[in-house]
Amino acid sequence: MVAIVYGSTTGNTEDAANKIHQYLGSDKTELFDVKDAGLAALEYFDKLIFALPTWDYGEVQADWQDVWDEIDTTDFSNKTVAFVGMGDQFAYAEWFQDAMGMLHEKVVAKGAKVVGHWPVTSYEFDASKALTENKETFVGLALDDDCQPELTEQRVKEWCEQIKPAFFG
Ligand SMILES: Cc1cc2nc3c(=O)[nH]c(=O)nc-3n(C[C@H](O)[C@H](O)[C@H](O)COP(=O)(O)O)c2cc1C
Repeated sequence: MVAIVYGSTTGNTEDAANKIHQYLGSDKTELFDVKDAGLAALEYFDKLIFALPTWDYGEVQADWQDVWDEIDTTDFSNKTVAFVGMGDQFAYAEWFQDAMGMLHEKVVAKGAKVVGHWPVTSYEFDASKALTENKETFVGLALDDDCQPELTEQRVKEWCEQIKPAFFG
C-alpha cells in the first residue's frame, strides 16, 4: 500500500491526489489530507507520495507548514517517497514549485529514497527550487492547474505509469 499525503488550500492538489489514487489503484493507495491526518501515515507506510502546492511567493502550503518541523524528527531511511507539486509557472515564475523542492530537500536529508523525477520540457518558468542537479528534471511531478489545466490528466497518468514499478514491483 502507498499513502498519498496531500495538502491543498483551494482544491487543486486535492483533485490531483484523487486522480493519482485512481490511476495507481484505489485498492493499492490510501489518501490522507494533512489538515485532518497530519503525518500519521508515516507510522504505517514505507511507500509514500507527498503532494503540495506552493503559496505566497515560494512558501509551503499552510497545512504542510503545520507539520513541517515533524519531518525533521522522522527517520525516512526505509521509506520510498515520490513528490507531486502544484504551482503557477506564469504568475509565479520565480518561485515555480518551490515548496516541492523544499519538502524534497528535508525528506532526502532524513534518508528517503526518492522516485518519480519528471522532465522540465513542457514548462516555462524563470527559477525553481524543485529542480534536480542537472536542471533537466523536477524532483517530482509538477502540475499547473492555473496555466496548463488541460495537461494535468495526461501528466498524472504518465507519471503514475512511471512510478508503478518502484512502488509495486
Ligand atoms: C497568492 C498566491 C501565491 C502563489 N505563489 C506561488 C508560488 O510562489 N509558486 C508557485 O508555483 N505557485 C504559486 N501560486 C499558485 C498556486 O500554487 C496554485 O494556484 C495552486 O493550484 C494552488 O493549489 P491548491 O488549490 O491545492 O491550494 C500562488 C497562488 C496564489 C493565489
